[in-house]
Amino acid sequence: MKDRLKAIREEALAQIEEADVLDRLNEVRVNFLGKKGQLTALLKSMKNIAPEDRPAFGQLVNETRSQIEAVLEESKKKLEQQALELQLKSEVIDVTLPAKKNNVGHRHPNTIAREDVERIFIGMGYEVVEGPEVEYDLYNFEKLNIPANHPAKDEQDTFYINKEIVLRTQTSPVQARVMEQGKLPIRMIAPGRVFRSDEVDATHSPSFHQIEGLVVDKNITFADLKGTLEQFAKELFGENTKTKFRPHHFPFTEPSAEVDVSCFKCGGSGCRFCKGSGWIEILGCGMVHPHVLEMCGIDPEVYTGFAFGVGLERIALLKYEIDDMRLLYENDARFLKQF
Ligand code: DAH
Repeated sequence: MKDRLKAIREEALAQIEEADVLDRLNEVRVNFLGKKGQLTALLKSMKNIAPEDRPAFGQLVNETRSQIEAVLEESKKKLEQQALELQLKSEVIDVTLPAKKNNVGHRHPNTIAREDVERIFIGMGYEVVEGPEVEYDLYNFEKLNIPANHPAKDEQDTFYINKEIVLRTQTSPVQARVMEQGKLPIRMIAPGRVFRSDEVDATHSPSFHQIEGLVVDKNITFADLKGTLEQFAKELFGENTKTKFRPHHFPFTEPSAEVDVSCFKCGGSGCRFCKGSGWIEILGCGMVHPHVLEMCGIDPEVYTGFAFGVGLERIALLKYEIDDMRLLYENDARFLKQF
């Protein structure tokens, strides 16, 4: 029995010596001193010893137990200290490291272009208004002289919520909404998102932006329209920009025109940018159709007006010489940061 006790003690001390983490040390403790441990088992087997030898043997077992406990405790302290040192080392804060910078966002080229256009028209005394993106067919088409079955509806195929409600194909319906309110004169621009069921490519997207313009007052003529848009083009693209009005057709204006500006890259001599023509198309415009005025409750015998519609992406792409519209919607910060 004594030999067995000695063996247990030596084995325990050796294992404690070897234990290099606290968990392992705990295993050793359970293995030797626990309820089912080796030393406890030895105590239980005392009944095999002669009664007179029992007290002496019991004492011996207890001494061994104390010894093992003392060594265990010492080793535990040592390992705890080591663990603490390791933790302190790994969690050290290096106050000399450069701080992490907060990534500050950047205005989108579309936003920059829209704010440029807004600034120019606000400078001319225009008001900035908004209209709904989900719009009645009535405002998007009917009140703009585009009745059911009009071919213009084909060109502006869109997403239908139901027979009467569509995602607006243009910002022009805001014209009708503002005119209907009956507060004259009107001088407004209406920027916003529009939708068409177009396939995505370098120049098309099912969702893009326009800026609508509308002026209604007494004695407004085509000369006012020309002067206004010429001034706008100069402020947007530079003082030397020339403007050209080409006859066109829009259902809600009569007469109508498309406006080209002289290429701000080559000055009009022709380059890759303007496809050699020296001119770049930027917007559609015209005198508000008398029938449109009438449908919106304005007497065309007393009032006249002009209107125009600019594609916002087109302006952004031109101004920043971006050759693919899709880049505007990818939200790649490396791209957006350039503008
Ligand atoms: N809404 C037209 C389009 O999407 C653009 C336009 C042309 C607007 C002439 C106007 C205008 O106000 O007078 O093609």
